[in-house]
Amino acid sequence: MRRLAEYARVDLWDDDAPPPRAELIRRSRACDAILTMVSDRIDAAFIRQTSRLRVVSNLAVGLDNIDLDFATRAGVAVGHTPGVLAETTAELAIALMFAVARRVVEADRFVRARRWRMWTPRLMLGRDLAGSTLGIIGFGSIGQAVARRAAALGMNVIYAPHRGRPKSRSARGGTELSASSPGANPVPLARLLAESDFISLNVPLTTETRGMIGPEEFAAMKRGAILINTARGAVVDQKAMIDALRSGRLGGAGLDVLETEPIAPDDPLLKFANVAITPHIGSASHRTRQRMAELAVDNILDVFAGRRPRCCANPKVRLRKIAAGRARSNRVR
Ligand code: DGY
Repeated sequence: MRRLAEYARVDLWDDDAPPPRAELIRRSRACDAILTMVSDRIDAAFIRQTSRLRVVSNLAVGLDNIDLDFATRAGVAVGHTPGVLAETTAELAIALMFAVARRVVEADRFVRARRWRMWTPRLMLGRDLAGSTLGIIGFGSIGQAVARRAAALGMNVIYAPHRGRPKSRSARGGTELSASSPGANPVPLARLLAESDFISLNVPLTTETRGMIGPEEFAAMKRGAILINTARGAVVDQKAMIDALRSGRLGGAGLDVLETEPIAPDDPLLKFANVAITPHIGSASHRTRQRMAELAVDNILDVFAGRRPRCCANPKVRLRKIAAGRARSNRVR
């Protein structure tokens, strides 16, 4: 806010719940730039109604809430935040693996329910990560960061690469380690599904990946495999996942993301003791969120200065200049 306010008049939606769509459109009409959350849907209809917009800066690396092709055609630059959140998101993926495999959440509930009587040899038996096989679907910076951690834990790591969007023109400002992941071997998806004790999803949500883990993929998994999703809920067919949990084909799941967020109070997933659910907090560390915020602001200020955002998701966009004299009277969400 401080940095933006030096250059622009800032209109802040000061609520954790996203603005109602009509309100977002109404207020964005007066803006040259908007700083959006993953919960804001920036589709063609939105962009058509906000013709003053020059830049949409998403506080996320994921871009599935934005119609990138339409934005490009409309001359709206799209910024996002790659390069700063892979390590933090990978840490949560590993945390969810431990949580499900060693039944951490379930055990905590057990203790709080005053059910802990004594030490017994078969109480809360779980599964070891060491010596297990981890299959990573999607081997971008987050997938690679998961692989490095898993290898250090003594897991056998295999991965099925996924061809996602081309990378942003630049992803500066981060502390990502290099892309090397010693000890991780590429395999076809079918083999990954058949051999993995744990499967971590690390693909972006695109038309290609939507529902990519469905009934057939669950049927092809090793019996009792544990699924970890820190990517996007819609990568998984949630009904098929529930069926697989019921049949025992899926031995558990650690889910940071869901098809519908927040989860509905009557969602059947809430009934499974072997499912740990977190509220889309993959990148939620103090340091990483600060870096994401700085980068989201940099992306806007770049456009105010007549340049493409430094992390531009649509580098082919023909940038439209902001009318002279508007610099200090901009409104930015
Ligand atoms: C992202 O960056 O895409 C996350 O889902 C939000 O932090």
